[in-house]
Amino acid sequence: MKIRAAVLVEFGKPLSIEEVELDPPKTGEVLVKLEACGVCHTDLYTASGADPSGYSPCVLGHEGAGVVAEVGPGVKSLAVGDRVVTLFSPECGECIHCKSGKTNICLAIREQQNLGRLPDGTTRLRRNGEELRHFMGTSTFAEYTVMPEIALAKVNPAANPEATCLLACGATTGIAAALYKAEVEPGSTVVVFGAGLVGLGAVVGAKLRGAEHIWIVDPSKERRDFACRVGATDALEGGDDAVQQILDRTDGFGADYTFEATGLVHVMGQAVEAARMGWGLCTVLGVAGKGQKLEIIPRYLITGRRVQGGSFGGARGRTHVPKLVDLYLEGKLPLDEFISHRRPLEAVNDGFELMERHDGIRTVLSFDS
Ligand code: CU
Ligand code: ZN
Repeated sequence: MKIRAAVLVEFGKPLSIEEVELDPPKTGEVLVKLEACGVCHTDLYTASGADPSGYSPCVLGHEGAGVVAEVGPGVKSLAVGDRVVTLFSPECGECIHCKSGKTNICLAIREQQNLGRLPDGTTRLRRNGEELRHFMGTSTFAEYTVMPEIALAKVNPAANPEATCLLACGATTGIAAALYKAEVEPGSTVVVFGAGLVGLGAVVGAKLRGAEHIWIVDPSKERRDFACRVGATDALEGGDDAVQQILDRTDGFGADYTFEATGLVHVMGQAVEAARMGWGLCTVLGVAGKGQKLEIIPRYLITGRRVQGGSFGGARGRTHVPKLVDLYLEGKLPLDEFISHRRPLEAVNDGFELMERHDGIRTVLSFDS
């Protein structure tokens, strides 16, 4: 079929909205009609050419929500009409990692996904008769996409796709990190570095877990104020002495839990040092530039601080995303407030510009039906 999609043709140039070919789903695959898609920093990072593992041409986009339009042979868990959230981090339920229950890093389709192809090593996307690759296994800046069944979370159809698409990446990364990865304890003190969608998610998750003090650290007053509206109890501007500022406000020992959501390695270092001696747990969520290193003074670890990281906040997509959608429907996740701009697919480059200007939290693309 012919579909409209935002194609990354050349790194560093605006995406090109074009008509491309999409083949029907093969075994274990599903055709999804996209209803909404968030514009995430990772899309921009790849489009800019800064990511050395990026490839082109490809169809970008990975924060999608939509409805199942067709299922390929062998698909058992999804049917036409099901509402789904796309997962760049699949959950096969059968590999050694999925079975361990200890990680969300599913091994089933990693190699081909990293190369921009579906699990059988081919693409369903074509442009002028040539191979067009699938970004992050999702390619959701498009009217339709074909994805493996194991990379789609079936969610409650009552939820608005404009909100649930945020759970495909940014919002879940922060929320799940606090709920499931760090398992923040009631009454604890939490510090979140960075008030973008991921950091705001961590604030919301910490609040849901009953944290008593939730500090947000961000240079933008607007973002700090926003974080306080969704659950942060106190705000700091941060800077070179951020750790000292936090120690001064937490009986000199630091926070029970810290979350880093900036991708800046010096802030990751601050998040480690602001975690409490004895048991403080630092969860690193930001994606640092290739080759960058995080320096930690070993004494911080010897004296009991722990450091962990979590792609997608450690969320197992097919298990946890439906639960988060239910929490949203119960009024416990302020996803609608995170949507700052709405644009049609044609204006996806607008979404990138808004992000570069730090204007708003999230731009959501909507698709004409
Ligand atoms: Cu993302
Ligand atoms: Zn797996």
